[in-house]
Amino acid sequence: MKILFAASEVFPFAKTGGLADVAASLPSALKALGHDVRVIMPRYRSVERAGISFDETGKKVHVRVGEQIHTGSLALAALPSGVPVYLVGYDPYFDREGLYGPGKGDYPDNASRFIFFSRAILDAVKSLDFVPDILHLNDWQTALTALYLKNDRGIAPYHGIASVFTIHNLGYQGLFRRDDLPLTGLGWEMFTPRGIEFYGKINFLKAGLIAADRITTVSRRYAEEIQTPEYGYGLEGVLQERSQDLVGILNGVDYSCWDPKIDPLIPARYSPDRLSGKTVCKQALLKAFGLRGPENRPLIGCVSRLTSQKGFDLIVDSAQELLAMDLSLVVLGDGEEQYRSGLAELVEASSDRFGLHVGYDNALAHLIEAGADFFLMPSRYEPCGLNQMYSLKYGTIPIVRATGGLADTITSFDAGKCSGNGFKFSDYSPAALVQTLQEGLAAYRDPAAWKSLMANAMDCDFSWDRSAREYVTLYEGLLKKNSNVLRGSVREYGNAPEGLQGGFISARD
Ligand code: ADP
Ligand code: GLC
Repeated sequence: MKILFAASEVFPFAKTGGLADVAASLPSALKALGHDVRVIMPRYRSVERAGISFDETGKKVHVRVGEQIHTGSLALAALPSGVPVYLVGYDPYFDREGLYGPGKGDYPDNASRFIFFSRAILDAVKSLDFVPDILHLNDWQTALTALYLKNDRGIAPYHGIASVFTIHNLGYQGLFRRDDLPLTGLGWEMFTPRGIEFYGKINFLKAGLIAADRITTVSRRYAEEIQTPEYGYGLEGVLQERSQDLVGILNGVDYSCWDPKIDPLIPARYSPDRLSGKTVCKQALLKAFGLRGPENRPLIGCVSRLTSQKGFDLIVDSAQELLAMDLSLVVLGDGEEQYRSGLAELVEASSDRFGLHVGYDNALAHLIEAGADFFLMPSRYEPCGLNQMYSLKYGTIPIVRATGGLADTITSFDAGKCSGNGFKFSDYSPAALVQTLQEGLAAYRDPAAWKSLMANAMDCDFSWDRSAREYVTLYEGLLKKNSNVLRGSVREYGNAPEGLQGGFISARD
């Protein structure tokens, strides 16, 4: 199959979260299964900074945004797996410090920037002469493309392309002012509740939900959750209507990046049967955060965006209990001020045991995975979550709230049966978090229990291959449906070659 995978961030070119990891590793896994897959993303300033070489293709895209037509460039780079990556360049939009905003907040012209990118994807199909069977779109930044494709299906070369839209996070919908509608080039007939209107605003993500041929999200549990008012962010009705076309496929892990056996970013490598390196990593982690105390004090790690999604209010609200427990905690993250200051207060109260590093630091993220004993993810909601799966491989035991992908990947440890790979709680409350932490600490203090728990965790396999095959099955189903539609219409208009008509299945069958 020919697959074009469009995303607003792709590791190592640009990353703010898990989408970037997925946009690099899923295409690579699809390539390994023998498909012709290519990635397309904006050429941000960070791409140049990543120090990866790329070449100008000399090809251009011409894209209308409102009244203006912008001409963008198409450069070609590659992922370490060899998957080609097309970089859509238009400096006024993408040669900027941040991906979505200048540090805090959003750029005021994000509507124009991602309308440009969404339309450029389809124009690139033409100018690169790469007409995919499947156009795989991700999150609100590329959601409009599904609608543009649907509108352009009558025009070559778009008629045979099927679209898949993946929701990585329903909490980010791309909401813009009503007055921005003319920028999209869509008519006002789309500005209705059945179109892309959402409580008086334009909702880019909704374009993907109403127009894509299939919708996926990144875990089974989240696929169910988003059809309920608690997790649907107001879009549960739209998702319920499309529930036949909605499926949850769990993300995988790129074990060429996240495996303590080969990780070049940690001070010592280790594996389930040679764990001494993990102690070296713990020492290095304690040092990196300037923590002191006995080495066998349980160390909890956390790498996360500091947003309400990730459950930091539970941590901040448990401060007194955390201070009273025999544990250390290190947090790496950036985000909202309220969580930064709440965590900073914890550090101030006990800087020997609590550490905070505000910022983005990939090497430190790896060191935390390797050096901590536990990994904490008390998320309010979590579409998939990658860090809990990375942690398992590093023998760093996840303590999670049972939601979305966290619920699907973590099974509670049962010391009696020696089963389970972590600890989880359901109630979104500081009390539930504290109680689960205590269960974890009890297991840590029991050498036999801890040994089997670590072995169970490190034995888990969330490699991409299985998930990539699920996507392939989904793509194949779509192609079959597409060819049936084509055949159906051939029969309908009666212009199929003689002798070929009889066996065709109609699109309506
Ligand atoms: P989300 O995409 O919601 O942020 P995920 O768990 O899917 O959550 O993925 C987060 C990814 O971003 C992981 O690869 C994690 O290591 C990385 N990450 C998050 N915050 C930081 C940070 N401050 N520094 C380095 N890496 C980070
Ligand atoms: C989102 C989600 C996260 C998921 C990631 C990749 O950012 O918050 O749970 O793992 O996308 O799909």
